[in-house]
Amino acid sequence: MFVYGASVLINVLLEQISTKVLAVFLAVLIIVRVLQVLREAFFLPPGPWGLPILGSLLSLKGDLHLHFRDLTYKYGSLISTRLGTQLIVVLSDYKMIRDAFRKEEFTGRPTTEFTNILGGYGVINTAGKLWKDQRRFLHDGLRHFGMSYLGSRKAQMENRIMKEVEEFLCVLKARKDRPIDLNPVLAVSISNVICDVLMSVRFSHNDKRFIRFMDLIDEGFKLFGSLQAALFIPFLKYLPGHNSTREKISKNRAEMGEFLQETIDEHRKTFDPSHLRDLLDTYLYEIQKANEEGTGHHLFEGKDHDRQMQQIMGDMFSAGMETIKSSLQWAVLFMLHNPEVMKSIQEEMDQVIGRQRLPKLEDLAYLPVTESTILEVLRISSIVPMGTTHSPTRDVKLNGFHLPQHAQVVPLLHAVHMDPTLWDEPDKFNPSRFINAEGKVQKPEYFLPFGVGRRMCLGEILARMELFLFFSSLLHSFNISVPEGETLPSLKGIAGVTITPNAFKVSLKPRPMEWENAATTIRPAGSH
Ligand code: HEM
Repeated sequence: MFVYGASVLINVLLEQISTKVLAVFLAVLIIVRVLQVLREAFFLPPGPWGLPILGSLLSLKGDLHLHFRDLTYKYGSLISTRLGTQLIVVLSDYKMIRDAFRKEEFTGRPTTEFTNILGGYGVINTAGKLWKDQRRFLHDGLRHFGMSYLGSRKAQMENRIMKEVEEFLCVLKARKDRPIDLNPVLAVSISNVICDVLMSVRFSHNDKRFIRFMDLIDEGFKLFGSLQAALFIPFLKYLPGHNSTREKISKNRAEMGEFLQETIDEHRKTFDPSHLRDLLDTYLYEIQKANEEGTGHHLFEGKDHDRQMQQIMGDMFSAGMETIKSSLQWAVLFMLHNPEVMKSIQEEMDQVIGRQRLPKLEDLAYLPVTESTILEVLRISSIVPMGTTHSPTRDVKLNGFHLPQHAQVVPLLHAVHMDPTLWDEPDKFNPSRFINAEGKVQKPEYFLPFGVGRRMCLGEILARMELFLFFSSLLHSFNISVPEGETLPSLKGIAGVTITPNAFKVSLKPRPMEWENAATTIRPAGSH
């Protein structure tokens, strides 16, 4: 009886003590966390504090890049804010962006729900040694296949692009006078350029495989959009519905993976180390070499070889397709709004190139109006308005402020390109701002459409080649106008990872070449 009574007493005491201990423990934890947040906030760049857990999410309205731009007006060119539990640091001064992104410690990428799904594979969302090795390898590979301003291989890349340009023009010519939305035609042509370099794959227009491929990518973008909330408030991932989105993403990725794996398997069967056909072959070569040297298990930091190749192909495709397609759509849209600019480009090309052939890369140096127009399109549309988010690889100091390792660092390229202290009337489409007093094209150091620093765009040279060859050939071959009875399409874009114009149609009137009138056939430039 006594023993029973004592044990009840001890239990009651323990319960009381443990409840109290737990309460004290929780209180200490909360105080420590609050102190940590306050300490962190004290040394952070200025910006709105927002609410606990939600941060400034409730004040978000409209496009994120415009929200950030408005904050920079209020707090300065280096700001911090919280979206949910994520700390965001926004840089909008080009010198600050350039100086920071040159440094090794700004080459990290944030860890998010998105990067967790990718599992550390690829190049765009990796950091550290894997990223560095992959970036160098891809850079060398792209140069080998002609992504270079100099050398004989440049012609090889030019030919690849011109093959697609000519097919593109043929499809447009076949439309006769009927108004056309250029988007789906451009999607196939631009995909073919990058898929040819990556894995010698070409799709025909109306190809069912291609339509499915694009559907998966489009759906992927939308599904990731619906995951966005969980990127900012991580505990939302425990809510019902989140898992089904995640599962759908994984299912889609598996289907994309299957398509890419089939291509990898086909390449393996026909692989010849003395004749590397594309980037995929250079990967197979690297893997073979490492296996022969007994270092295969170290390659890609020990990650699965096939999965890494799949993700690299996926990364390069998504980085190199949408960006070029959107830029070309913006270029056409600005021509509809500025027909006098289109006319002066056409006059320049008629004079310099003549009407016997399509433009070549070597003409670019003699076409300042055409080149400056492409630059102005890149500036004013800022299709990647917030670059790609970086993250410090360790706690760092920037302009006297403390940035913790987990911060997401956003280079606000849109704000740089729209800064009235750098550009005269930045809202105005004015290609001549890129032409100096001697009539030569000049790019100021604050022109950053491809980012800057160690992680700047890996495909810039290819992008410039494609933009010039597609845009100049289109204008050399057609007069572009708004279809009869339709209004001028809006210049307001849809902001996602990139900014794309709303769907619009154009009317194309052929500008006949001399070879099309003459009895003899003159082969267009680039089709050797
Ligand atoms: C008009 C076309 C393009 C624009 C405006 C553009 C712009 C950009 C920007 C702003 C970045 C982020 C830089 C940073 O993180 O600081 C980037 C990264 C990247 N771009 Fe492009 N890009 C274009 C075309 C291409 C093409 C054609 C390719 C592929 C051949 C490509 C491949 C990449 C890759 C792989 C990265 C990630 C680099 C890394 O994480 O180290 N881009 N691009």
